[in-house]
Amino acid sequence: MSETTSRSIGDNSKTFTYADLLRVGPGTITGKYLRRFWHPVFAAADIAQGHVKPLRILGEDLTLYRSESGTPHIVGGRCPHRGVQLSLGFVDGDDIRCAYHGWKFDAAGKCVQQPAEPRPFCDQVKIKSYPTQEYLGLIFGYFGEGAPPPLPRLADYEDDKTYACEVSGDIWPVSYFDLLENATDMAHTAFLHWHFGYQAPNNIEWRENECGMAGTFEGTGKDPVFNRSFFDMPTAVEFATRRPGHPGFFARGYRVPRDDNSAVRFNLTAFPRVAAEARDKPATGGTGDEEKAAHPVTDIAAGLLSGREDMRSLKERSGGMNYMYLTNIQDCTVLSSLGPPAQRDFAEFLGGTDLSVALMRRLWLREITAFAEGRPLKSWQRPDFMWQDVTAVHRAEAR
Ligand code: FES
Ligand SMILES: [Fe+2]
Repeated sequence: MSETTSRSIGDNSKTFTYADLLRVGPGTITGKYLRRFWHPVFAAADIAQGHVKPLRILGEDLTLYRSESGTPHIVGGRCPHRGVQLSLGFVDGDDIRCAYHGWKFDAAGKCVQQPAEPRPFCDQVKIKSYPTQEYLGLIFGYFGEGAPPPLPRLADYEDDKTYACEVSGDIWPVSYFDLLENATDMAHTAFLHWHFGYQAPNNIEWRENECGMAGTFEGTGKDPVFNRSFFDMPTAVEFATRRPGHPGFFARGYRVPRDDNSAVRFNLTAFPRVAAEARDKPATGGTGDEEKAAHPVTDIAAGLLSGREDMRSLKERSGGMNYMYLTNIQDCTVLSSLGPPAQRDFAEFLGGTDLSVALMRRLWLREITAFAEGRPLKSWQRPDFMWQDVTAVHRAEAR
């Protein structure tokens, strides 16, 4: 099986290719399709009441603020007066005021004050605004036209008797699609992630299901109950893991496009409450957060790509590193090496172990083609409880 990256198809063509899946801006077919879903945009704990943050999502610069009563709002990225970045402004009750001349906008984007104007013309001025919801420690936004669909619930992650759920997030200079493909690529784990000591997996199976794709595989040495992965349309992956002596966990990773060349990664991880240490050290290792803060994953990846360090030196010094930190360094480095989608000039040779990659591309292309032609789309439905059997193991251990 072989497949080539094509860069020759323009946005106006009805024949879409893999290259179209990497373009997410407002006018693109994939960008329009993605705007039909809710997307997590910020970790709720990272924005306090009365504070403002810049956001970049799906190729658009936006502003996130939390009102003084605590409600998150998303509005346009620039003040329409003279174009200053609105995230420099101040929250005023439920509204946001531009830092430059003080024009004020309500949560619906309507201009409600122009303090220095002798004859205010607020009724002619409006900025974009988007619906938000806060759920499981994440702020979600809806960027499509019209009324949003209901925000999908994740009942497994709401079980706070059994689990302590944690949110982590970071930004990588990598296409969201590369991240999703990587998350379903079981063959790379034995090689790139040397620290797990896995054998190359056998019998990798991926099939389309009601929420996207379900994968099974053998040979990682993991407990079969924990040995499954899912891809949930459009931008999430879920997996469970358990190593000897550790209770394991399940997690949902969102890979939300900021633009064509970068993505924000949120991980929502359900750590069982059965073992006190499970929550603090999900992946045992010597160094954790302090090293992460001093040496961000993206800096180490940049050093490896520039040749400042090589993989052999990383391998030699990686013995005491936190498992997940090292895993992220490895993934971020190889994925960053692919470069921005618009500048890729290489072909690929997909093999049998790239089944999930080929399936994911086919499934996406089918949906965006149907979308462009106005045909019915598959309604993706995640079951309420995806990790029932993992939860059963953790509940039994808690007794
Ligand atoms: S630029 Fe925002 S009020 Fe003037
Ligand atoms: Fe990986």
